[in-house]
Amino acid sequence: MIDYKYLTEEDRAHFLERGWIQVPNAVNPQYLDPWMENLWVRLGEDPNDPSTWKEEYLKMPRHREVPYEEYCTPEAWGKLCEIVGGENRMHPYRERYAGDQFIINFGSDKYDGLHEKGEKPDPQQATGYHIDNDWYRQFLDSAGNALTLIFLYTDVLENGGGTFLVEDAIPGVCKYLEDHPEGLDHPYDELVQHAYQCKKFTQIVGKKGDLFITHQLLPHSHAPNYRRYARVITNPHINMRENHNLDRADGDYNLCEQVILKALGRDHVSFTPTRDRLIQYPRTAFFKVARVKEELARMQADFEAKGLDPESVDSVYLRGENAVQEHKKRNGYDKEWGPNGVIQKGTGIGVEVRAVHDDDTVIPSPVVQ
Ligand SMILES: [Fe+2]
Repeated sequence: MIDYKYLTEEDRAHFLERGWIQVPNAVNPQYLDPWMENLWVRLGEDPNDPSTWKEEYLKMPRHREVPYEEYCTPEAWGKLCEIVGGENRMHPYRERYAGDQFIINFGSDKYDGLHEKGEKPDPQQATGYHIDNDWYRQFLDSAGNALTLIFLYTDVLENGGGTFLVEDAIPGVCKYLEDHPEGLDHPYDELVQHAYQCKKFTQIVGKKGDLFITHQLLPHSHAPNYRRYARVITNPHINMRENHNLDRADGDYNLCEQVILKALGRDHVSFTPTRDRLIQYPRTAFFKVARVKEELARMQADFEAKGLDPESVDSVYLRGENAVQEHKKRNGYDKEWGPNGVIQKGTGIGVEVRAVHDDDTVIPSPVVQ
């Protein structure tokens, strides 16, 4: 049986009931402020002048990455391992590292004064409910992603653009996936349509260094930032070696599996996919990776201006071909594009479907698991 040393009884009950837990001070401090130090150089914007902030919402690429056990405090790492039933069940390399792919919610002049007037954003009016699965075909038992993680790189204030979570949407997602054994290819609007009518919403609020561990089937959305500051998070995942087993003879389900069984109101589920499994290039990574060149140029120019060697900028993209290949492998950038291509341009808000290749053809060369 899975042994729980780090997850308290309260943690386990909270995860089963609400689909998420908060872990305060989860990040080793050497990966907080030091990784944030060159954020504004990467952006080419002025932290003290919101008129230079070009976007309301921005997803950045990853330059630095370290294994989770080094990145997290021992307690946070222990909780992550236990929630999936042990480190040995995690994928040996895919998304096995945490990194500095920041997601920034800058707010906007159009929300000026709303927080001060006591107004709150309405989670039912959010525009981007989804689950994170843009790199594989989603089945009920898929564990290409088991946990969607949200690490806070700034304090996330009330009304300050924290992610909306829809706790009572998990049963609808599970039911839909059980009814669709053929699986879903990203994008998948129909899977989460019910989320907008749900009732149990939570908006993330927390301190720099906190971690929110969320179940992969918990729908979530970006939220408007009613306060004019740059809210910064990262949003990596825990991928599993094998798919979930919802029919264990010994009943030793991990907490991710227990959430699914609870949502379906059953103690076991026999599930057989009717199509092949599929792993693909992450559809929403393309436009982030497209930023690498300009960010590198800004960081290197900054080093030059300071009299430092521009080749010593800390980025995997300057570590040689082998390091870049490893990085690609860890993040799925070595995979072929899936049946719906990739999103070529975007900010990551909502589902922006630009699902074609440069020449408007689709390359149907899936990698079957
Ligand atoms: Fe997401």
